[in-house]
Amino acid sequence: MIEVRNLNQTFQTAKGPLQVLMDVNLEIAPGDFVAVIGRSGAGKSTFLRTLNGLLIPTSGSVIVNGTDITKLPKRELQKYRRTVGFIFQQFNLVSRLSALDNVLHGRLGYLPTWRGLLGLYSEADYQIARQQLERVDLAAKENARVDSLSGGQQQRVAIARAMAQQPTLMLADEPAANLDPVLSEEVMRTLKRFNEQDGVTVVINIHALDLALKYAKRIIAFKRGRLVFDGLPTQLTDSIVDDLYERKELLA
Ligand SMILES: Nc1ncnc2c1ncn2[C@@H]1O[C@H](COP(=O)(O)OP(=O)(O)O)[C@@H](O)[C@H]1O
Ligand SMILES: [Mg+2]
Repeated sequence: MIEVRNLNQTFQTAKGPLQVLMDVNLEIAPGDFVAVIGRSGAGKSTFLRTLNGLLIPTSGSVIVNGTDITKLPKRELQKYRRTVGFIFQQFNLVSRLSALDNVLHGRLGYLPTWRGLLGLYSEADYQIARQQLERVDLAAKENARVDSLSGGQQQRVAIARAMAQQPTLMLADEPAANLDPVLSEEVMRTLKRFNEQDGVTVVINIHALDLALKYAKRIIAFKRGRLVFDGLPTQLTDSIVDDLYERKELLA
């Protein structure tokens, strides 16, 4: 269970302080599939980064299973972060390495640093990595350099890498934004399958509203740093969407 309490994030910029998240409060239950929507610049990526402790908020707390991760010492925070998978728009794979080696990177958090540096994974690590590659239908490509794979295949490698962490929480920041509509659906279906089969909680930033409505169990929306909607896909009305994307203001 994740509880976000009175979350504020302000960045110092050349133009002065910029408040990007304003008093955000919400809870995310285990096994949920949450789509985060809102215009570009609304604070979605910033919000995701606070959920895995990549970013310490200016104020407020992120309580995971009773522990406020914003106050964890570095070592404890690392321990938390290995249970959180993260998928990016640009895949963030090591292009000259094989698919399997990239997926094995998902195991690094569980290895002593020196073993990780030497690539000394255990048999169990290999087994987990191969299993996850198999689950994204890329077992045949385990030795292929990832830069020889298609964009859709690369994103599946990235999902397998995140799953190799055996995460309880999977964060995805616009994972389909660089993919065509068919491959975008494939990414969403893969995430949904892992959500259903493994019970992993999914929180995904997504600007394609149709995909959010089709795959998420719950939608939350940010507008200029404020949480302005939190509900079921069926509760998201046209007028809420118009307001969210400020369509009237755009037309005026
Ligand atoms: N590290 C940072 N320093 C300064 N400004 C930032 C930083 N990160 C994000 N921002 C600003 O915060 C706002 C929200 O960004 P972001 O969370 O990336 O929005 P979204 O993902 O919804 O497009 C933007 O105006 C962005 O320029
Ligand atoms: Mg973003």
